[in-house]
Amino acid sequence: MHPLIIHLIIVAVSSSGAIVLGHPAPADGTPAMRFWEQALPGTPMPAVIADLVQKGIDHSPLTEHYPINDDGTGDTAGNNAWNWRSCRRCQQKGADKGFYFLMTQVRVGSTLTFTFRRALIAPILPHDVAAKVPFDDLANVLTTFHVDPSSAEAATVNDTLSVCQVSPVDGEKKVCTTSLEDTVKSAKQMLLGTGSSGVMTWAAASATRSNGLPLQPYVIQAVAPLDGDRHVGCHILPYPYGVYYCHMTPAMPTKAYMVSLQGVSGGAPAVDMVAICHFNTSNWDPSHPAFQMLHTHPGGKPVCHFMAYANMLFGKKKAEI
Ligand SMILES: *[C@@H]1O[C@H](CO)[C@@H](O)[C@H](O)[C@H]1NC(C)=O
Ligand SMILES: *[C@@H]1O[C@H](CO)[C@@H](O)[C@H](O)[C@H]1NC(C)=O
Repeated sequence: MHPLIIHLIIVAVSSSGAIVLGHPAPADGTPAMRFWEQALPGTPMPAVIADLVQKGIDHSPLTEHYPINDDGTGDTAGNNAWNWRSCRRCQQKGADKGFYFLMTQVRVGSTLTFTFRRALIAPILPHDVAAKVPFDDLANVLTTFHVDPSSAEAATVNDTLSVCQVSPVDGEKKVCTTSLEDTVKSAKQMLLGTGSSGVMTWAAASATRSNGLPLQPYVIQAVAPLDGDRHVGCHILPYPYGVYYCHMTPAMPTKAYMVSLQGVSGGAPAVDMVAICHFNTSNWDPSHPAFQMLHTHPGGKPVCHFMAYANMLFGKKKAEI
């Protein structure tokens, strides 16, 4: 039989199966989903995160190799520009124009020109699997995930380990996490400390896809403020599986928004993005590209950016009265 015909039969069978049985949503019924629902009541797991959880089960990075390069085909600005201390790679490669914007641009009708590059897909490992695989032993990681020690991928894995190992500065709290459960737990702990269990936490992610967003003007169609004046950003790092770098600086206020954007060119995508504005940039590296881009300086005007693919933002919910 012709392969296409076989393919069509499979598609027909699986789609009729879907109708009869109902197609479960990604991550439904997984321990990660159960944990999420308990830890973040009222916050549905963002679809991009649910997809990565499901992928970590169906196509485990222990058996399938996912690219780990960080050569610019990854989301350079998104993955590194949040690193306000150095942003080493943004300086090497030049952060994407339009990646940063000002608070005054966060309003309906405002137009922002930017791109998100294709992002690397690092599936999230189930918590029990993540607990068993090595994280901070380079040689062990390379062997477990079949990475050639002399490859560029190996150097990137080493870079990620260094970023995770370096001590925080200037009142920053930081941690690297290897499962969704640990990410949520760490973010909540950073936000709430211990002993404020009555305070509710929310989480949000941009609805971008891993193939990115084309460079073009986007007009803001709606802006919804997200609760809180301090936020924890969790950024996915280049690694054989989903590793998050979560951080916040408690002394530095932030403001977060859900922003609905529509591409201005015909057929361009509409997308809901999470934006974060940093009100106090006084501990940022003066050579950070955001300052040049926005003609400002450390401690100057607030600097805003969108959360990149698969990154998460956490905040405290306003007390419900
Ligand atoms: C890993 O990175 C550290 C810190 O940047 C460096 O000193 C070390 O030589 C690197 N190791 C390998 C095997 O590349
Ligand atoms: C910004 O943060 C620095 C360091 O924590 C602090 O000294 C400064 O007063 C803050 N600036 C404002 C405007 O709050």
